[in-house]
Order: sequence, then structure tokens, then C-alpha cells
Amino acid sequence: MSKEIKSVNYGLEKIFEGAQDFLPLLGTDYVEFYVGNAKQAAHFYKTAFGFQSYAYKGLETGSREAVSYVLKQDKIKLVLTTPLTSKSSINDHIVKHGDGVKVIALWVDDARQAYRETTSRGATSYMEPVAEQDEYGEVVKSGIHTYGETVHLFIERKNYKGNFLPGYVAWESDYNPTPVGLKYIDHMVGNVGWGQMNTWVKWYEDVMGFENFLSFDDTQIHTEYSALMSKVMSNGNGRIKFPINEPAEGKKKSQIEEYLEFYEGAGVQHIAVATDDIISTVSQLRARGVEFLSTPPEEYYKAVPGRLEEHSHQLRENIETLKSLGIMIDADDEGYLLQIFTKPVEDRPTLFFEIIQRMGARGFGAGNFKALFESIEREQAKRGTL
Ligand code: FE2
Repeated sequence: MSKEIKSVNYGLEKIFEGAQDFLPLLGTDYVEFYVGNAKQAAHFYKTAFGFQSYAYKGLETGSREAVSYVLKQDKIKLVLTTPLTSKSSINDHIVKHGDGVKVIALWVDDARQAYRETTSRGATSYMEPVAEQDEYGEVVKSGIHTYGETVHLFIERKNYKGNFLPGYVAWESDYNPTPVGLKYIDHMVGNVGWGQMNTWVKWYEDVMGFENFLSFDDTQIHTEYSALMSKVMSNGNGRIKFPINEPAEGKKKSQIEEYLEFYEGAGVQHIAVATDDIISTVSQLRARGVEFLSTPPEEYYKAVPGRLEEHSHQLRENIETLKSLGIMIDADDEGYLLQIFTKPVEDRPTLFFEIIQRMGARGFGAGNFKALFESIEREQAKRGTL
């Protein structure tokens, strides 16, 4: 299987020429979760994942409807939001989906233009452009709906010198666990319903000017029991990558169907965060209680040198060390990558995290899909949802 996928031509050069530049994106600005108890969730992301206290809004700052904690680690910003009254519409989201990602905020130079360009191409408006000011300057925000109840906000902060957004204050805490080396968001994956993948691929092409640079069908992504299909969408400069998955027919229920059932619709399945030293990062995460999917079997690690072929001699990490931490290895024409997946970080089997270290490879670990999905299926079997 990996052999077949390794021959994929990523076509990135085509992206750089071909992508329409009507929506220049500077990067991911932040990811906002709607959660049942932001105070406790913030403690979890600090303690377990090494995020740092960064900004806050709540009753003390005049925010009467909701409280938000902003956490930061290198370039990654997470916002955790909980409603403060039963009247807030945020409750509806939490009742339906449980804790999950509401906003994927994208950093732009011109939020008004981003709104015009996307809504004129068919995006549904979520938030008309609005300028917010405080003593540090002005931020312009706008937003559109994407799959499920997830939204993209466009954040223009070129005239702003504050740390996060107007309405927030710096969050100074006496409790500051050390970071674990998470650097930036590598990609964020969406799960959509049966037959919806190509609809959303076209939406990202038409509305946001993204290109599909990698595709996997169910003949490539399957186990004995289940299958899925996936297409990777990238913006023009390659900084934003959104793979989109849909379930495919199999003997048993796939992880995508399990997600759709428990999230009650389409939504963000996983957030992949990059590190420069996955052995150090994963060692720390494990010591802090982060739960990962089970380690692939012995045969998986025995097969690694053969699978890596010409990249085998480049492997700087000791295979025994990788095995002891459950880290998986994959290679493509350009190099290799190391990755590992957490268990879902909520009680519903929905959102999880991926930790990834790229050593030249630009793929997504296709050679690991089988081992990974078998590991997920072992968890599904325990939950009675396979
Ligand atoms: Fe991933």
C-alpha cells in the first residue's frame, strides 16, 4: 500500500502557479473551541499539552455572555469559550456537538476583501466585516460558514498592537507549566457526511481558491473492516492545509461514521501540530497524562527499514525509541515524517490531536493509515461503536 502511495505526485508546484490569489492567507490565526467548562479545559491544555496562559475575557472584563481563555504555544493559539448564561446560543452548539471546534480563524491582510471575495463566490455569511478598537488599535473581523456548524473567521490585525483581540486582557497566571515543543498547526482535518467530500472540495476550490493536491480513495485507505476517502486541500502559499474525509462502505462502521454520529454532523476531526523534536514532545506529553492510540505491533516496526527504502539511512531517530513511544514513521519521495495520534480529548469519540515532525516529507502518513485505523478500530471495539 505505501509503495503505491509513495509514487503520488504532490503537484505543489502546480498549486503555486495555479491557485487563484483572490484570498491571500497569512496563516492560521487561532482555533476556537466551544466547551462546557472553559476554566477546566484551559487547565487541561496547560497541564497536559504545555500551552501558556495568554489572554482572557469574562465577567471581570465586562463580557456578560461568555468567558474565553486564550492559550498559546509558539505560533498556536487556542481559544476556549463557555457561555455564562442559559440564553447564549453557544449552549446550542455544545448541547448538539459536545466540546468541539467552532472557529478556524485565518489571518489576513484585509478582512473586508476576504469577505467580499468569498461571499461573492458563494460562501454563506457568518459575520459581516466589523472593526473593533481598543487602546492598542483596531482589528477587522469577518466570517463565513464552512462544513457543519464550523466557521472561518478572517482576522485583520495589521493595525493592532495588543496581544490578542480587543475585548481581551492579558492573562497573567501563577501556574505556568513548561511548553512541550509544539510549534504551529500543520493541518486541520474535517469529517463530512456520506457523498459530501467532493462538494466541500469544490467549495474550497471555488470559494476560497484552494487546490486539491492529494487524494486517497477507499482502495488506499481501508482495513479489513472499514474504509474512508480523503482529499487534501491547500491554499496558494501552502500554509493552510485542510484534508477532508468522508466515510466509505466497509464491513463495519468506520471511525468517520462514529465521529459523525457522536458529533451529530460534520466537524473538525483532528488538529495536527508540528514539533521539531517528536521524541522529546511525546515523552513529555505521555508523562503529563496525554493518552495516545495504542502502539502499532512489532511487525510494523520491523517493516520500517524496508518501507523507508532510500530514506532509511536518513532516519536520525532510533527505531526502538520510536517504538517505545508509539511514534509512527512514513516516507515519500522527498523525505520522511514521524507522527502519533492522541485518543479523543473529550468523552464523545470526536476531536483528537496529531503530533507531527516533518523531515522533508510533505504527505500525511498514508503508509501509516492501515496501522493507524486498526488501532482506532481496537478503540472503537471497546466503545461498542465498530
Ligand atoms: Fe493528519
